[in-house]
Amino acid sequence: MKILVTGAAGFIGYHLCERLLGLNHEVIGLDNINDYYDVNLKYSRLENLGISRSIIEHKKIISSSKYSDHFRFIKLDIKDKDDLDIVFENHGFDMVCNLAAQAGVRYSLENPSAYIESNVVGFLNILEACRNYKIDKLVYASSSSVYGLNEKIPFSVSDNVDNPISLYAATKKSNELMAHTYSHLFGIKTTGLRFFTVYGPWGRPDMAMFLFTEAILNDKPINVFNNGALYRDFTYIDDIVEGVVSCLLKETDDKTLYRLYNIGNSKPVRLLDFISEIEKRTNKTAVKNFLPMQAGDVEKTWADVTSLKNDFGYEPKTNIEKGVENFINWYKEYYN
Ligand SMILES: NC(=O)c1ccc[n+]([C@@H]2O[C@H](COP(=O)([O-])OP(=O)(O)OC[C@H]3O[C@@H](n4cnc5c(N)ncnc54)[C@H](O)[C@@H]3O)[C@@H](O)[C@H]2O)c1
Repeated sequence: MKILVTGAAGFIGYHLCERLLGLNHEVIGLDNINDYYDVNLKYSRLENLGISRSIIEHKKIISSSKYSDHFRFIKLDIKDKDDLDIVFENHGFDMVCNLAAQAGVRYSLENPSAYIESNVVGFLNILEACRNYKIDKLVYASSSSVYGLNEKIPFSVSDNVDNPISLYAATKKSNELMAHTYSHLFGIKTTGLRFFTVYGPWGRPDMAMFLFTEAILNDKPINVFNNGALYRDFTYIDDIVEGVVSCLLKETDDKTLYRLYNIGNSKPVRLLDFISEIEKRTNKTAVKNFLPMQAGDVEKTWADVTSLKNDFGYEPKTNIEKGVENFINWYKEYYN
């Protein structure tokens, strides 16, 4: 298969590219390498895929030194429709996985425009390109944040999600609605995946796993919101990637065009227990700065993954102990 992965320099996109290449597929990675967080981490991920930082140029397609013509990378912004169309025109993809987005709940209070540009305009451009270049299948990232203030747990895709509490969540819910329209009108198979707090090696510096580890190792205090009474369905990156790969590549026997799934571990972990696990693995005690709930945040996330199990055999395997250990080993090695 020839697959376009957008957001390829990002946390999930990088791991997905590596996995697809391991399965011998041909992958084109696309990313605008924005500076929402440290770009060095994005360039290091690309280096691992055989793309040297020194030769990356806007709009230039680069072949990997590690995977030769099986992996190519292009620095591009999905909000630039004409440039994106040229990529589709030139490559004839079998399928597309759109992970490029402005991520992060909290930042959407500071910079709402970034979310509309990448997540709404950019996503529309992806849908239009899928329509015009006859792409059979699009898998795209949604988010657990669409559940907003819902209290019924575990969260199920059949629950009403009309009450987002961040613009980030609103853009992800919009993606689901837009995908539904394009499936219906143009027969594109779309699969939306609501990711639940993904963590693991090469993870995002704006997320709890990274922030806590960095602070604890440097004897700095950590901010513990809602006085620690938060629960997250932390999901290990390899389990996420297996789920995404199944949605992309597994044949399904029915004619369903529009699909939407939760992809989580389905075992919420109390934030204080998560912190204890990091303390155990770093042999350090966290200095905790207890704070009230933050605007835009939710108390508990918990994925009901029954439909993903039934349709694609999804089975998360990594427990929090192993996942935290893997992250901390990576972190120590990467940051010396
Ligand atoms: N990591 C999680 O826990 C989580 C949870 C829910 C949803 N998601 C979603 O999963 C996807 C991947 O998340 P991630 O954690 O890997 O985030 P990430 O920020 O590491 O990766 C996203 C990548 O997309 C790129 N990008 C952003 N806007 C772009 C644009 N307009 N054009 C081209 N590239 C652009 C960024 O440079 C970045 O490398 C995102 O859509 C995110 O919203 C992630």
